[in-house]
Amino acid sequence: ADALKVGIAGLGTVGASLVRIIQNRANELAVTCGRPIEITAVTARDRKRDRGIDISGITWFDTPQKLAAEADIDVFVELIGGANGPAAESVRAALERGLHVVTANKALLAASGVELARIAEDKGALLNFEAAVAGGIPVIKALRESLTGNTVSRVYGIMNGTCNYILTRMEKEGLSFADCLREAQRLGYAEADPAFDIEGNDTAHKLAILTTLAFGTEIAADEIYLEGITNISIEDIRAASDLGYRIKLLGVAQKTESGIEQRVHPTMVPHDSVIAQVDGVTNAVAIESDILGELLMVGPGAGGNATASAVLGDIADIAKSRPGAQRVPVLGTPAAALAPYKRAR
Ligand code: HSE
Repeated sequence: ADALKVGIAGLGTVGASLVRIIQNRANELAVTCGRPIEITAVTARDRKRDRGIDISGITWFDTPQKLAAEADIDVFVELIGGANGPAAESVRAALERGLHVVTANKALLAASGVELARIAEDKGALLNFEAAVAGGIPVIKALRESLTGNTVSRVYGIMNGTCNYILTRMEKEGLSFADCLREAQRLGYAEADPAFDIEGNDTAHKLAILTTLAFGTEIAADEIYLEGITNISIEDIRAASDLGYRIKLLGVAQKTESGIEQRVHPTMVPHDSVIAQVDGVTNAVAIESDILGELLMVGPGAGGNATASAVLGDIADIAKSRPGAQRVPVLGTPAAALAPYKRAR
């Protein structure tokens, strides 16, 4: 089958991980997706920077906008970030051209998601964004596909890995807020401007997206009550602990009699709750709905591989959905390609 041609804009932590994974697993991906996945175009701010990946055989574009408008690709992958500027312009241009788009850009979706969805639908393009919320946790798939027919009453969770990492290390090791933040930046968890993490905006962007998927409303990021973790001290964490609580930055969206309530703020959660056990960069998202009941998903919420894993899943979905390509295999892998079972000893 024809290869799915992928253009990637942005070669930071996530973009570099994605390139590495697609290149290293080319054979496996061709089998799982029913067609090869080939990176044919890339762009980033700096062409020469050493990222530990080989992009020599890939067509280079000077700007995301150019790549989106001119590259010979089926899918435009946006891993730049930011609600405005090159990310927004290139995603829009790609969709207008009828290209499928995969993005991890929660700020962009929180600001313009409905408008972009409208363009995609008009053009018959797919717009996938699993990586935009809670990193590698398949929460978009859960809300968009798995919970079809359910009425959701509440979505909440830990959706910012950087904040959870900071709160965890402050509590467990008594490190300062500033040291923990610096370490989160070094590990590639934090936003380019970490104020988005610690002031709660990033959680709000993610929550706004989940609210729309959960309740079928317009995106309303501006309606969110917002309080970050910048005022949390080690003394606060200790005091909460003495009372049997841990402090977590939660995003909560729920239906009330008068409408939808959305809020982001540090929250005291009881020591023995599952959410309280979620440590470090790990995220957790709970969804309460009428048919299924309570679903709780816990997993890596930020970082190169966790995020690239979700982006790759979105690309694979597109590879499988193209006309002429094979459908989603019943068992995930085509039956003919299943490996023989081998019992553990
Ligand atoms: N800065 C974000 C976080 C990255 O820490 O969760 C993942 O969206």
